[in-house]
Amino acid sequence: MPSLDDSTRGRILFGGDYNPEQWPEEIWLEDVRLMKQAGVNSVTLGVFSWATLEPRPGAREFGWLDRLMDLMHANGIGVVLATPTASPPPWMGSRHPETLPRDEQGQTVWWGSRQQFCPSSPTYRAYAAAITEDLAARYAGHPALTMWHINNEYCTHCWCDGTARHFRSWLRTKHGTLDALNEAWGTAFWSQRYDAWEEIIPPRRAQYMRNPAHVLDFKRFTSDALMECYTAERDIVSRHSPHIPVTTNFMPLWSGQDAWRWAEREDVVSVDIYPDPKDPHGGQYNAMIGDMTRSQARGPWVLMEQAAGPVNWRGVNHPKPRGLNRLWSLQAVARGADAVCYFQWRQSRQGAEKFHSGMLSHAGEAGRTFQETSRVGAEIARLGAQVTGTRITADIAVLHDWNSWWADQQDGRLSTHLDYADVVRAWHRALWESGRTTDFAHPEHDLTRYRLVVVPHLYLLTDTAIDGLLSYVRGGGTLVCGFLTGVADEDDRVRAGGMDARLRELLGIGTVHEWWPLDAGGTVECEGFLGTLWSEEFEPAGGEVVAAYKGGELDGLPAVVRNGRAWYVSTLPEPDALRALLSRIADDAGTRPVLTGLPDGVEAVRRGELLFLLNHGRAAVTVQVPGSRPELLTGGQVSGSLTLERHGVAVLGEAVS
Ligand code: GLA
Repeated sequence: MPSLDDSTRGRILFGGDYNPEQWPEEIWLEDVRLMKQAGVNSVTLGVFSWATLEPRPGAREFGWLDRLMDLMHANGIGVVLATPTASPPPWMGSRHPETLPRDEQGQTVWWGSRQQFCPSSPTYRAYAAAITEDLAARYAGHPALTMWHINNEYCTHCWCDGTARHFRSWLRTKHGTLDALNEAWGTAFWSQRYDAWEEIIPPRRAQYMRNPAHVLDFKRFTSDALMECYTAERDIVSRHSPHIPVTTNFMPLWSGQDAWRWAEREDVVSVDIYPDPKDPHGGQYNAMIGDMTRSQARGPWVLMEQAAGPVNWRGVNHPKPRGLNRLWSLQAVARGADAVCYFQWRQSRQGAEKFHSGMLSHAGEAGRTFQETSRVGAEIARLGAQVTGTRITADIAVLHDWNSWWADQQDGRLSTHLDYADVVRAWHRALWESGRTTDFAHPEHDLTRYRLVVVPHLYLLTDTAIDGLLSYVRGGGTLVCGFLTGVADEDDRVRAGGMDARLRELLGIGTVHEWWPLDAGGTVECEGFLGTLWSEEFEPAGGEVVAAYKGGELDGLPAVVRNGRAWYVSTLPEPDALRALLSRIADDAGTRPVLTGLPDGVEAVRRGELLFLLNHGRAAVTVQVPGSRPELLTGGQVSGSLTLERHGVAVLGEAVS
């Protein structure tokens, strides 16, 4: 199977989406000149080119792409070639309205933007396969081709009648019989029993709350339906070029795709990351997505898109202050990326994204954005061969599962303030701020190589996952579970007693009486800290009470319980408290920060033999560094200590004696 190494060939890929069909051909030559100046060695072509490639059904216009592929090759720039299937041309919706998605209310989602396709539509799939086939046949052997990029950020949802038929066949495969489906969905409640498969529809707009198990299966189905579109195109390009790796770019921590399952079907895992430059914790967000993507890739990954400056889809779109583009780019490399790419190369002058930054902004060659991006390109080239293919080892895993997230998003829950992704982020932040490197893992993965496993909040856990957690702790591992974990089984059926009995025994918990979610912004006092978001009323059974609730209805009842190496935290402690608690548990479990004594805001990551130091703060800091080491970005030598400027980065080689 091809891998990312087949694309990088010892260089970190640096470049971005290139949409040259927006520009007259003379500009292409100017683009190439500036790309070389900026250190660009990779462009992604064709992401939204369907209407240019196939202006009317069955027509083919490949001449412009031939010239571009040749131009790139002649200038030593590799091409990540996209199938254009994310944005069907207007003729498709106009001639084949059944390819257009319908929303939950049955309204058509029209053309005029992008991504207007129903993933279940056989017509869409047939056109997508045909253009992919011809594209692959034409360019499979082209020397510029380094990777296939299928579609773009698969994210469409559809509730149409065609989707209904497809959903039914997915359900038949999953449940086998209608009786089994009725049982799994609990349709005896509210007179929802299905008597024939044809009665089942996607969970459309309804009078009141919809059946959560029905909605959960539909989310699983939608992820799978999109994945079928992906694998169909993947199989076509791989047949033509078995030596070229295939990817599709994920959105980060996006609820629409079970990225664990998708990643298994990719040669290369790639992601698009757009933290808000105004977010004081943007660096942690980057780190989290890097850790998650690296874990899905089981090694190096591709940062397929980021912004060199502002995006244009937030309420207020902030540019990146000086140094931030460089810091976050090198941070991705530190966390395992072998590619640092942007959306897009040249900022558009027309169309919906004309105020979204590019590597080459409206300010042009002399602009700060281009100057800073070029510096990143030069530094990335310097790191190249010493970095690509190298690994990061972590002895902590954070567990994350889309199924639990989906079950969490349903109507009829205990609190609408509970946001799964925010909770995951809070726990990752505590570990990140304590300087420890973490992987992510699926709850059914083999966890034996980790000293500490952290479950921020997995409301839904399968029996297999619970078996795994039990044997992990029995085998000597340390486990910390956050609130409302292990409550439901895989059909979203609440387990007897409100939490799985074996998990309760493991954690030293007895009866769970009630869950007590907090009002927005509310806190609950616990011994030594404040809890946020959530609290619980339960009895310990064998577990030692590490901290109790203070005051209020839960006064004196346990907030944090420990049973040997298994911990349960029934609230979300405020950030400092969560960091302190997790640091203590992580120390006991034998994990260590990468470096101790770092100034606030400085991140240290070890990748292969290299030590990356990243200053997320806006003031210069001095960092103590053991031994005397080469610094790769400057080519200098560091002994004892070094200064990191605002948003500064150092990449240190092994200490020399
Ligand atoms: C996504 C898309 C790009 C572009 C950017 C803008 O990542 O893949 O085509 O629209 O968003 O931030």
